[in-house]
Amino acid sequence: MSFSNSTKIGHSVLSQRIINEIARLGPMTFARFMEMALYDPNEGYYMTVGTQASGESTQDSRIGWSGDFYTSSDVHPLLAQCLIKQIREMDELLGRPSQLTVVEMGPGKGLLARDVLRACVNEDADLSARLTYVLIERSPVMQKIQAHHLGEFLEKGWPIEWHTSLSALDQHSVHGVMLCNELVDALPVHRVRVSDHRIHEVFVDFQGGTLCEHLGELSTSDIQDYLACYTDGLSLKWPDGYSTEVHLELLNWMEEVARVLQRGFVLTIDYGHTASDYYDMSRKDGTLVCYHKHTASSNPFVRVGDQDITAHVNFSALAGKGTQIGLSVTGFTNLMNFLLGLGADEMLADVDPESEEMQSAIQFLRPQSMGQTFKFLVQHKAIESPTLAGLKFRPFFEEALLGVGSEH
Ligand SMILES: C[S@@+](CC[C@H](N)C(=O)[O-])C[C@H]1O[C@@H](n2cnc3c(N)ncnc32)[C@H](O)[C@@H]1O
Repeated sequence: MSFSNSTKIGHSVLSQRIINEIARLGPMTFARFMEMALYDPNEGYYMTVGTQASGESTQDSRIGWSGDFYTSSDVHPLLAQCLIKQIREMDELLGRPSQLTVVEMGPGKGLLARDVLRACVNEDADLSARLTYVLIERSPVMQKIQAHHLGEFLEKGWPIEWHTSLSALDQHSVHGVMLCNELVDALPVHRVRVSDHRIHEVFVDFQGGTLCEHLGELSTSDIQDYLACYTDGLSLKWPDGYSTEVHLELLNWMEEVARVLQRGFVLTIDYGHTASDYYDMSRKDGTLVCYHKHTASSNPFVRVGDQDITAHVNFSALAGKGTQIGLSVTGFTNLMNFLLGLGADEMLADVDPESEEMQSAIQFLRPQSMGQTFKFLVQHKAIESPTLAGLKFRPFFEEALLGVGSEH
Protein backbone atom coordinates (compact mmCIF):
# COMPACT_ATOMS: atom_id res chain seq x y z
CA MET A 1 0.00 0.00 0.00
CA SER A 2 1.41 3.41 -0.91
CA PHE A 3 0.60 6.46 1.10
CA SER A 4 2.94 8.82 -0.68
CA ASN A 5 0.54 10.03 -3.38
CA SER A 6 -1.81 12.81 -2.49
CA THR A 7 -5.43 11.74 -2.42
CA LYS A 8 -7.69 12.96 -5.22
CA ILE A 9 -10.44 13.83 -2.78
CA GLY A 10 -11.45 16.69 -0.51
CA HIS A 11 -9.23 19.21 1.19
CA SER A 12 -5.77 18.15 0.11
CA VAL A 13 -3.82 19.30 3.17
CA LEU A 14 -6.26 17.81 5.67
CA SER A 15 -6.80 14.61 3.68
CA GLN A 16 -3.04 14.18 3.45
CA ARG A 17 -2.72 14.64 7.20
CA ILE A 18 -5.34 11.93 7.73
CA ILE A 19 -3.64 9.64 5.22
CA ASN A 20 -0.28 10.17 6.92
CA GLU A 21 -1.75 9.28 10.30
CA ILE A 22 -3.25 6.10 8.83
CA ALA A 23 0.16 5.29 7.33
CA ARG A 24 1.80 5.69 10.74
CA LEU A 25 -0.78 4.11 13.01
CA GLY A 26 -3.02 1.97 10.80
CA PRO A 27 -6.75 2.49 10.09
CA MET A 28 -8.30 5.11 12.39
CA THR A 29 -11.65 4.99 14.16
CA PHE A 30 -14.43 6.95 12.48
CA ALA A 31 -14.57 9.13 15.61
CA ARG A 32 -10.93 10.12 15.07
CA PHE A 33 -11.61 10.79 11.38
CA MET A 34 -14.67 12.94 12.23
CA GLU A 35 -12.68 14.79 14.88
CA MET A 36 -10.01 15.66 12.30
CA ALA A 37 -12.49 16.48 9.52
CA LEU A 38 -14.50 18.86 11.69
CA TYR A 39 -12.04 20.09 14.32
CA ASP A 40 -8.47 19.83 13.01
CA PRO A 41 -7.04 23.10 14.42
CA ASN A 42 -5.88 24.34 11.01
CA GLU A 43 -8.11 22.71 8.41
CA GLY A 44 -11.16 21.31 10.23
CA TYR A 45 -14.61 22.26 8.94
CA TYR A 46 -15.62 24.29 12.00
CA MET A 47 -12.12 25.72 12.49
CA THR A 48 -11.99 27.52 9.15
CA VAL A 49 -14.10 29.97 7.20
CA GLY A 50 -15.90 28.42 4.24
CA THR A 51 -14.85 28.74 0.64
CA GLN A 52 -17.41 31.44 -0.12
CA ALA A 53 -15.69 33.92 2.14
CA SER A 54 -15.68 37.48 0.90
CA GLY A 55 -16.31 40.53 3.06
CA GLU A 56 -17.70 40.85 6.53
CA SER A 57 -20.66 38.50 6.68
CA THR A 58 -18.74 35.78 4.91
CA GLN A 59 -17.90 34.25 8.19
CA ASP A 60 -21.42 32.95 8.11
CA SER A 61 -20.59 30.87 5.09
CA ARG A 62 -20.53 27.47 6.84
CA ILE A 63 -23.91 27.78 8.56
CA GLY A 64 -26.78 29.67 6.98
CA TRP A 65 -28.51 30.20 3.67
CA SER A 66 -25.27 30.90 1.80
CA GLY A 67 -23.48 28.01 3.51
CA ASP A 68 -23.89 24.25 3.75
CA PHE A 69 -26.80 23.87 6.15
CA TYR A 70 -29.02 26.05 8.26
CA THR A 71 -30.15 25.67 11.85
CA SER A 72 -33.30 26.80 13.63
CA SER A 73 -31.42 29.95 14.64
CA ASP A 74 -31.27 30.98 10.97
CA VAL A 75 -34.98 30.43 10.44
CA HIS A 76 -36.77 32.71 12.91
CA PRO A 77 -36.21 34.15 16.43
CA LEU A 78 -39.34 32.30 17.65
CA LEU A 79 -37.24 29.56 19.28
CA ALA A 80 -35.15 32.15 21.16
CA GLN A 81 -38.28 34.06 22.19
CA CYS A 82 -39.81 30.89 23.62
CA LEU A 83 -36.51 29.93 25.22
CA ILE A 84 -36.38 33.16 27.17
CA LYS A 85 -39.92 32.51 28.40
CA GLN A 86 -38.74 29.09 29.53
CA ILE A 87 -35.59 30.50 31.12
CA ARG A 88 -37.70 33.07 33.02
CA GLU A 89 -39.82 30.26 34.43
CA MET A 90 -36.67 28.36 35.38
CA ASP A 91 -35.32 31.52 37.03
CA GLU A 92 -38.51 31.70 39.14
CA LEU A 93 -38.11 28.05 40.15
CA LEU A 94 -34.52 28.77 41.15
CA GLY A 95 -35.75 31.61 43.38
CA ARG A 96 -34.52 34.47 41.16
CA PRO A 97 -30.86 34.24 42.27
CA SER A 98 -28.79 37.42 42.37
CA GLN A 99 -26.84 36.07 39.40
CA LEU A 100 -28.36 33.67 36.88
CA THR A 101 -25.89 32.06 34.51
CA VAL A 102 -26.91 30.82 31.08
CA VAL A 103 -24.25 28.61 29.51
CA GLU A 104 -24.74 28.01 25.80
CA MET A 105 -22.61 25.21 24.41
CA GLY A 106 -21.75 25.03 20.69
CA PRO A 107 -23.34 28.40 19.83
CA GLY A 108 -22.61 28.28 16.05
CA LYS A 109 -22.89 31.82 14.72
CA GLY A 110 -24.26 33.18 17.99
CA LEU A 111 -27.69 33.98 16.56
CA LEU A 112 -29.55 32.08 19.26
CA ALA A 113 -27.56 33.91 21.96
CA ARG A 114 -28.26 37.24 20.26
CA ASP A 115 -32.00 36.56 19.98
CA VAL A 116 -32.27 35.20 23.53
CA LEU A 117 -30.54 38.31 24.87
CA ARG A 118 -32.69 40.63 22.75
CA ALA A 119 -35.85 38.94 24.01
CA CYS A 120 -34.57 39.11 27.58
CA VAL A 121 -33.89 42.85 27.32
CA ASN A 122 -37.37 43.42 25.85
CA GLU A 123 -39.24 41.35 28.36
CA ASP A 124 -37.47 41.26 31.69
CA ALA A 125 -35.28 44.16 32.84
CA ASP A 126 -34.76 42.49 36.22
CA LEU A 127 -33.44 39.25 34.72
CA SER A 128 -31.33 41.22 32.19
CA ALA A 129 -29.58 42.88 35.13
CA ARG A 130 -28.85 39.51 36.79
CA LEU A 131 -27.93 37.48 33.70
CA THR A 132 -24.43 36.31 32.78
CA TYR A 133 -24.16 34.63 29.38
CA VAL A 134 -21.33 32.12 28.91
CA LEU A 135 -20.51 30.67 25.50
CA ILE A 136 -18.61 27.40 25.21
CA GLU A 137 -17.12 27.22 21.72
CA ARG A 138 -14.07 25.20 20.78
CA SER A 139 -13.45 26.96 17.47
CA PRO A 140 -11.66 30.36 17.55
CA VAL A 141 -13.16 31.14 14.13
CA MET A 142 -16.69 30.50 15.38
CA GLN A 143 -15.97 32.58 18.51
CA LYS A 144 -15.13 35.54 16.26
CA ILE A 145 -18.36 35.10 14.32
CA GLN A 146 -20.29 34.96 17.60
CA ALA A 147 -18.63 38.15 18.85
CA HIS A 148 -19.62 39.83 15.58
CA HIS A 149 -23.29 38.86 16.04
CA LEU A 150 -23.25 39.81 19.71
CA GLY A 151 -21.66 43.21 19.03
CA GLU A 152 -24.70 45.19 20.18
CA PHE A 153 -24.36 43.63 23.67
CA LEU A 154 -20.58 43.65 23.89
CA GLU A 155 -20.52 47.36 23.06
CA LYS A 156 -22.78 47.99 26.05
CA GLY A 157 -20.50 46.01 28.34
CA TRP A 158 -22.79 43.01 28.83
CA PRO A 159 -21.28 40.19 30.91
CA ILE A 160 -20.65 37.73 28.07
CA GLU A 161 -17.83 35.20 28.50
CA TRP A 162 -16.22 32.73 26.11
CA HIS A 163 -14.45 29.46 26.89
CA THR A 164 -13.23 26.81 24.48
CA SER A 165 -14.35 23.95 26.69
CA LEU A 166 -16.50 23.20 29.73
CA SER A 167 -13.29 22.04 31.39
CA ALA A 168 -12.48 25.75 31.90
CA LEU A 169 -15.37 26.01 34.36
CA ASP A 170 -14.98 24.96 37.98
CA GLN A 171 -16.92 22.07 39.44
CA HIS A 172 -20.43 23.13 40.53
CA SER A 173 -19.81 26.70 39.38
CA VAL A 174 -23.05 27.15 37.40
CA HIS A 175 -26.29 28.17 38.99
CA GLY A 176 -28.73 28.53 36.14
CA VAL A 177 -29.40 27.03 32.72
CA MET A 178 -27.06 25.08 30.44
CA LEU A 179 -28.38 24.79 26.91
CA CYS A 180 -27.32 23.71 23.45
CA ASN A 181 -28.90 23.61 20.04
CA GLU A 182 -27.38 21.17 17.53
CA LEU A 183 -24.15 20.71 19.43
CA VAL A 184 -24.47 17.05 20.30
CA ASP A 185 -25.09 16.01 16.68
CA ALA A 186 -21.74 17.61 15.83
CA LEU A 187 -19.74 15.51 18.32
CA PRO A 188 -17.59 12.76 16.76
CA VAL A 189 -19.13 9.27 16.70
CA HIS A 190 -17.81 5.74 16.37
CA ARG A 191 -19.48 3.59 13.72
CA VAL A 192 -20.28 -0.11 13.98
CA ARG A 193 -21.57 -2.71 11.51
CA VAL A 194 -22.78 -6.28 11.89
CA SER A 195 -20.86 -8.78 9.79
CA ASP A 196 -20.79 -12.58 10.21
CA HIS A 197 -23.30 -12.18 13.06
CA ARG A 198 -20.86 -10.07 15.08
CA ILE A 199 -20.62 -6.35 15.71
CA HIS A 200 -17.50 -4.87 14.17
CA GLU A 201 -16.18 -1.34 14.24
CA VAL A 202 -15.98 0.67 11.02
CA PHE A 203 -12.48 2.18 10.71
CA VAL A 204 -11.18 4.59 8.09
CA ASP A 205 -8.43 3.27 5.82
CA PHE A 206 -6.61 4.50 2.72
CA GLN A 207 -6.65 2.05 -0.19
CA GLY A 208 -6.31 2.46 -3.95
CA GLY A 209 -5.84 6.22 -3.67
CA THR A 210 -8.96 6.88 -1.66
CA LEU A 211 -10.19 6.91 1.90
CA CYS A 212 -12.43 3.94 2.54
CA GLU A 213 -14.06 1.84 5.27
CA HIS A 214 -12.29 -1.04 6.98
CA LEU A 215 -14.05 -3.40 9.39
CA GLY A 216 -12.17 -4.47 12.50
CA GLU A 217 -12.55 -5.45 16.15
CA LEU A 218 -14.01 -2.83 18.51
CA SER A 219 -11.32 -0.27 19.38
CA THR A 220 -12.48 0.02 22.99
CA SER A 221 -14.65 -1.95 25.39
CA ASP A 222 -16.57 1.29 26.00
CA ILE A 223 -18.38 0.59 22.71
CA GLN A 224 -19.51 -2.80 24.00
CA ASP A 225 -20.70 -1.15 27.22
CA TYR A 226 -22.57 1.51 25.27
CA LEU A 227 -24.29 -1.12 23.12
CA ALA A 228 -25.29 -3.02 26.25
CA CYS A 229 -26.59 0.08 28.05
CA TYR A 230 -28.00 2.41 25.46
CA THR A 231 -29.56 0.50 22.54
CA ASP A 232 -32.63 -0.80 24.37
CA GLY A 233 -31.40 -4.36 23.80
CA LEU A 234 -31.78 -3.93 20.03
CA SER A 235 -28.08 -4.46 19.28
CA LEU A 236 -28.61 -8.15 20.04
CA LYS A 237 -31.13 -8.36 17.19
CA TRP A 238 -29.35 -6.49 14.42
CA PRO A 239 -28.91 -8.58 11.26
CA ASP A 240 -25.80 -8.70 9.08
CA GLY A 241 -25.26 -5.39 7.29
CA TYR A 242 -26.86 -3.28 10.04
CA SER A 243 -24.76 -0.13 10.52
CA THR A 244 -25.10 2.59 13.10
CA GLU A 245 -23.29 5.03 15.34
CA VAL A 246 -22.05 4.84 18.92
CA HIS A 247 -21.82 8.18 20.73
CA LEU A 248 -19.13 7.83 23.37
CA GLU A 249 -18.38 11.55 23.19
CA LEU A 250 -21.95 12.34 24.17
CA LEU A 251 -21.45 10.46 27.44
CA ASN A 252 -18.26 12.42 28.19
CA TRP A 253 -20.04 15.67 27.41
CA MET A 254 -22.93 14.78 29.75
CA GLU A 255 -20.40 14.09 32.52
CA GLU A 256 -18.82 17.49 32.02
CA VAL A 257 -22.22 19.21 32.16
CA ALA A 258 -23.10 17.39 35.39
CA ARG A 259 -19.72 18.29 36.88
CA VAL A 260 -20.13 21.99 36.17
CA LEU A 261 -23.79 22.41 37.15
CA GLN A 262 -24.44 23.15 40.80
CA ARG A 263 -28.17 23.79 40.60
CA GLY A 264 -30.44 24.34 37.63
CA PHE A 265 -31.49 22.97 34.27
CA VAL A 266 -29.94 21.41 31.18
CA LEU A 267 -31.76 21.87 27.89
CA THR A 268 -30.59 19.83 24.91
CA ILE A 269 -32.15 20.56 21.53
CA ASP A 270 -31.24 18.40 18.57
CA TYR A 271 -32.21 15.94 15.87
CA GLY A 272 -32.60 12.60 17.55
CA HIS A 273 -34.61 9.73 18.94
CA THR A 274 -35.12 7.47 21.91
CA ALA A 275 -32.91 4.36 21.71
CA SER A 276 -35.84 2.18 20.66
CA ASP A 277 -36.45 4.43 17.64
CA TYR A 278 -32.81 5.08 16.89
CA TYR A 279 -31.68 1.48 16.80
CA ASP A 280 -34.63 -0.25 15.16
CA MET A 281 -34.65 -1.66 11.65
CA SER A 282 -36.01 1.52 10.06
CA ARG A 283 -32.55 3.05 10.58
CA LYS A 284 -30.51 0.06 9.47
CA ASP A 285 -27.92 2.31 7.78
CA GLY A 286 -27.57 4.64 10.77
CA THR A 287 -28.14 8.39 10.77
CA LEU A 288 -24.78 9.78 9.64
CA VAL A 289 -25.20 12.49 7.02
CA CYS A 290 -22.93 15.08 5.41
CA TYR A 291 -23.93 18.53 4.16
CA HIS A 292 -22.35 20.65 1.50
CA LYS A 293 -24.17 23.65 0.03
CA HIS A 294 -27.50 22.36 1.29
CA THR A 295 -27.08 18.98 -0.38
CA ALA A 296 -27.09 15.93 1.85
CA SER A 297 -24.83 12.97 1.13
CA SER A 298 -23.82 9.80 2.91
CA ASN A 299 -20.15 9.94 1.86
CA PRO A 300 -17.89 11.45 4.54
CA PHE A 301 -14.75 10.78 2.46
CA VAL A 302 -15.31 13.53 -0.09
CA ARG A 303 -14.71 17.26 0.54
CA VAL A 304 -12.96 16.36 3.79
CA GLY A 305 -12.85 19.53 5.92
CA ASP A 306 -15.22 21.27 3.54
CA GLN A 307 -18.49 19.55 4.40
CA ASP A 308 -20.36 19.06 7.65
CA ILE A 309 -20.68 15.58 9.14
CA THR A 310 -23.44 14.92 11.65
CA ALA A 311 -25.24 12.03 13.35
CA HIS A 312 -28.57 12.07 15.18
CA VAL A 313 -28.60 12.06 18.98
CA ASN A 314 -29.49 9.07 21.13
CA PHE A 315 -31.54 10.90 23.76
CA SER A 316 -31.90 7.76 25.85
CA ALA A 317 -28.13 7.73 26.29
CA LEU A 318 -28.13 11.36 27.42
CA ALA A 319 -31.03 10.79 29.81
CA GLY A 320 -29.69 7.45 31.10
CA LYS A 321 -26.16 8.76 31.64
CA GLY A 322 -27.56 11.92 33.23
CA THR A 323 -29.63 10.05 35.81
CA GLN A 324 -26.52 8.13 36.90
CA ILE A 325 -24.63 11.35 37.61
CA GLY A 326 -27.23 13.54 39.27
CA LEU A 327 -29.23 14.99 36.37
CA SER A 328 -32.90 14.01 36.65
CA VAL A 329 -35.12 13.99 33.58
CA THR A 330 -37.62 16.85 33.73
CA GLY A 331 -39.18 15.89 30.42
CA PHE A 332 -38.73 15.07 26.76
CA THR A 333 -40.71 16.58 23.93
CA ASN A 334 -40.34 17.93 20.40
CA LEU A 335 -39.86 21.43 19.01
CA MET A 336 -43.51 21.86 18.03
CA ASN A 337 -44.82 20.90 21.45
CA PHE A 338 -42.16 22.86 23.30
CA LEU A 339 -43.08 26.03 21.41
CA LEU A 340 -46.83 25.49 21.72
CA GLY A 341 -46.47 24.86 25.45
CA LEU A 342 -44.81 28.26 25.74
CA GLY A 343 -47.57 30.00 23.76
CA ALA A 344 -45.91 30.26 20.33
CA ASP A 345 -49.33 30.31 18.65
CA GLU A 346 -50.32 33.41 20.65
CA MET A 347 -46.97 35.02 19.95
CA LEU A 348 -47.64 34.62 16.22
CA ALA A 349 -51.28 35.74 16.41
CA ASP A 350 -50.55 39.17 14.93
CA VAL A 351 -48.32 37.93 12.11
CA ASP A 352 -49.91 37.95 8.64
CA PRO A 353 -50.46 34.28 7.72
CA GLU A 354 -49.32 34.99 4.14
CA SER A 355 -46.13 36.80 5.18
CA GLU A 356 -42.61 35.48 4.73
CA GLU A 357 -42.14 35.76 8.47
CA MET A 358 -45.03 33.37 9.10
CA GLN A 359 -43.74 30.95 6.46
CA SER A 360 -40.42 30.83 8.33
CA ALA A 361 -41.88 30.48 11.80
CA ILE A 362 -44.36 27.83 10.72
CA GLN A 363 -41.46 25.49 9.86
CA PHE A 364 -41.01 25.01 13.62
CA LEU A 365 -44.60 24.03 14.12
CA ARG A 366 -45.18 21.73 11.16
CA PRO A 367 -44.89 18.10 12.18
CA GLN A 368 -43.40 17.17 8.78
CA SER A 369 -40.84 19.95 8.99
CA MET A 370 -38.63 20.72 12.00
CA GLY A 371 -41.54 20.43 14.46
CA GLN A 372 -41.23 16.71 15.05
CA THR A 373 -37.69 15.85 14.05
CA PHE A 374 -36.21 18.25 16.61
CA LYS A 375 -36.36 16.98 20.18
CA PHE A 376 -36.02 18.74 23.54
CA LEU A 377 -34.59 17.00 26.57
CA VAL A 378 -34.78 18.92 29.84
CA GLN A 379 -32.86 17.72 32.89
CA HIS A 380 -32.58 19.28 36.31
CA LYS A 381 -30.36 19.16 39.37
CA ALA A 382 -31.01 20.12 43.00
CA ILE A 383 -34.62 21.20 42.34
CA GLU A 384 -37.65 19.25 43.52
CA SER A 385 -39.84 17.91 40.61
CA PRO A 386 -40.14 21.11 38.56
CA THR A 387 -43.06 21.63 36.17
CA LEU A 388 -42.27 23.60 33.01
CA ALA A 389 -44.54 25.24 30.43
CA GLY A 390 -42.36 23.97 27.57
CA LEU A 391 -43.11 20.41 28.69
CA LYS A 392 -46.88 20.86 28.94
CA PHE A 393 -47.45 18.75 25.81
CA ARG A 394 -45.34 15.62 26.01
CA PRO A 395 -45.77 13.16 23.17
CA PHE A 396 -43.09 10.86 24.58
CA PHE A 397 -43.21 8.74 27.64
CA GLU A 398 -40.26 9.15 29.95
CA GLU A 399 -40.25 5.37 30.39
CA ALA A 400 -39.41 4.99 26.70
CA LEU A 401 -36.52 7.37 27.18
CA LEU A 402 -35.29 5.84 30.40
CA GLY A 403 -36.00 2.23 29.61
CA VAL A 404 -32.30 1.87 28.95
CA GLY A 405 -29.10 2.61 30.77
CA SER A 406 -30.53 3.21 34.21
CA GLU A 407 -29.29 -0.04 35.68
CA HIS A 408 -25.70 0.66 34.62
C1 LIG B 1 -24.03 22.88 14.27
S1 LIG B 1 -23.20 24.11 15.08
C2 LIG B 1 -24.39 24.65 16.28
C3 LIG B 1 -25.42 25.59 15.77
C4 LIG B 1 -25.91 26.63 16.75
N1 LIG B 1 -26.09 26.16 18.09
C5 LIG B 1 -27.19 27.28 16.27
O1 LIG B 1 -28.14 27.40 17.04
O2 LIG B 1 -27.23 27.69 15.12
C6 LIG B 1 -22.08 23.25 16.16
C7 LIG B 1 -21.22 24.22 16.96
O3 LIG B 1 -20.65 23.52 18.07
C8 LIG B 1 -19.26 23.82 18.15
N2 LIG B 1 -18.65 22.69 18.88
C9 LIG B 1 -18.48 21.43 18.47
N3 LIG B 1 -17.95 20.66 19.45
C10 LIG B 1 -17.82 21.44 20.52
C11 LIG B 1 -17.35 21.23 21.84
N4 LIG B 1 -16.93 20.03 22.25
N5 LIG B 1 -17.36 22.27 22.70
C12 LIG B 1 -17.80 23.49 22.30
N6 LIG B 1 -18.25 23.75 21.05
C13 LIG B 1 -18.26 22.75 20.17
C14 LIG B 1 -18.88 23.99 16.69
O4 LIG B 1 -17.65 24.65 16.53
C15 LIG B 1 -20.07 24.81 16.20
O5 LIG B 1 -19.94 26.15 16.52
